[in-house]
Amino acid sequence: MMVSEVGSYWQERLSNMSETESKAWDTVGIVTYSNSRQQADELYSEWAQKYDSDLDTLKYETPQNLVTELLKYIDNTPSTKVLDVAAGTGKCGEVFKKLGFKGIMDAIEINGAMLEIAKRKSLYRNHTEMGVYPDKSIPIVDGLYDAAVCAGSFGPHHLAPGCVAPISHTLRQGGVTIFSCRATPQATEYRDLLENEIDKLEKAGMIARIEVKEMTHYAVKCRETGNSMMSKVYVYHRL
Ligand SMILES: C[S@@+](CC[C@H](N)C(=O)[O-])C[C@H]1O[C@@H](n2cnc3c(N)ncnc32)[C@H](O)[C@@H]1O
Repeated sequence: MMVSEVGSYWQERLSNMSETESKAWDTVGIVTYSNSRQQADELYSEWAQKYDSDLDTLKYETPQNLVTELLKYIDNTPSTKVLDVAAGTGKCGEVFKKLGFKGIMDAIEINGAMLEIAKRKSLYRNHTEMGVYPDKSIPIVDGLYDAAVCAGSFGPHHLAPGCVAPISHTLRQGGVTIFSCRATPQATEYRDLLENEIDKLEKAGMIARIEVKEMTHYAVKCRETGNSMMSKVYVYHRL
């Protein structure tokens, strides 16, 4: 189904939900539960122009939460370097700017249309249109970054669980990575795989846990839980 073909199924059932909110949920659902990486990419290309306004409608809080958490653990100096992985339209970059981050931000994003929106915001030094994959290093000098953030992008047909390793390789020793995964029951299988990957990297002495906790993903009431949707947030540093 195309984003533009979203029906009114949920609209009829959730009468207290505004039409704008209902349509935003429809789109998020279609993209999140896409059937393949290619389909997800096509949907993002179509959605890019409306992505920011739809996520504002749903009160998407993950970028704000992740960046605020990350800034507790890194220095805020002009030479501090942060990599935004699967940066989308640059929502994390916007939060860094709003919170007075003085350092350098680079963005990696697989979808050209999403990255184009990020570019227009002039937040990042480099905008690299590139996919991140397990067992494939990110072609950036190892150990370059003080931090890496990845908001809302670990999930089926998005970043595979095995992507924690290549992201961690971009960090200097002591560098911090923060990323999220939906805490919904529907995401349990994926989250288990992600946590297995994290365990493996901890056992291999590559990363160590700073904190893992649940934080709000979408603040508006969602269909899956009838309440705000939560994300599990993982904060690790490179050994
Ligand atoms: C839900 S959006 C999140 C974007 C942004 N981080 C935010 O919080 O608004 C997921 C993004 O991940 C990107 N993405 C999915 N798989 C990817 C991959 N393997 N490598 C890089 N980007 C990917 C998508 O194109 C999309 O822009």
